[in-house]
Amino acid sequence: MNKNWDEILKKYVYKINSPDGRDTFGSSSELVRKIIDFSHFEPSDTVIDMGSGWGNLTINLSEEVLKVIGIEPNKKNIDEAKKRTEERGIYNIEYIKGSFEDFKCKTKVNAIVSSITFHQVNPENKRKALANVKKALNEGGRFILCDTLILFNPFSELEFFNSVYRYLLSRTTPDSIYEKYIKPNMEEDSYIYSWEDMKKYTPEKFWYYSLNELETIVDELEMKIEEIEKLSPFFGILKITNR
Ligand SMILES: C[S@@+](CC[C@H](N)C(=O)[O-])C[C@H]1O[C@@H](n2cnc3c(N)ncnc32)[C@H](O)[C@@H]1O
Repeated sequence: MNKNWDEILKKYVYKINSPDGRDTFGSSSELVRKIIDFSHFEPSDTVIDMGSGWGNLTINLSEEVLKVIGIEPNKKNIDEAKKRTEERGIYNIEYIKGSFEDFKCKTKVNAIVSSITFHQVNPENKRKALANVKKALNEGGRFILCDTLILFNPFSELEFFNSVYRYLLSRTTPDSIYEKYIKPNMEEDSYIYSWEDMKKYTPEKFWYYSLNELETIVDELEMKIEEIEKLSPFFGILKITNR
């Protein structure tokens, strides 16, 4: 199973020391294609790319739609994205400094897309982040969320969650966090890690969230999860509509 997961991660994400100097991940060209195909954008759409980073998805998306607004909190990442955009002679992208929590965009759009970013929003801010997404969407608009999240029930599938926990934390948590918080607490193989353990041993910023938690917030905000493409039990693309 783990070998299969390695292949999935290798296919869809690449490890990078990002322009802002962090050990993180970027969407591979295969993932960018998958997100675009899943989204069914119209050529007349204006789309927000939230957490646009160094312009990976943003630049490819700009070929499919009228305009892309890349929103990103880190200036160094924006500068790199602008440089790459200019080098390619692309004129339909606007980059704005902002975040899920601090949404500066004044225009309402039909679609917001976000790739491997939402897990970086602190758990207590996730509701506010999604409320901001809703505010920026026209009625019937959609939020295309591609991210790592637990797509099964971690409480009823205890042993499966344990294997995902052991795998994911070793592969996706930055080395410095893994060495300091997780490795010292790694129990022998017979120990079954639970959802509560994930919270106990991992700094809040690195907690995984589950489909179930997301669904609760989406329901409260009167939005709807319309479609899910599972790329693995812990990674997928979701279409969330503003009803
Ligand atoms: C893993 S990178 C992904 C970049 C790009 N979306 C991609 O798929 O290649 C995550 C990006 O999200 C940004 N980010 C972090 N926290 C954020 C937040 N709360 N709201 C929006 N973006 C955030 C980071 O600065 C970084 O550029």
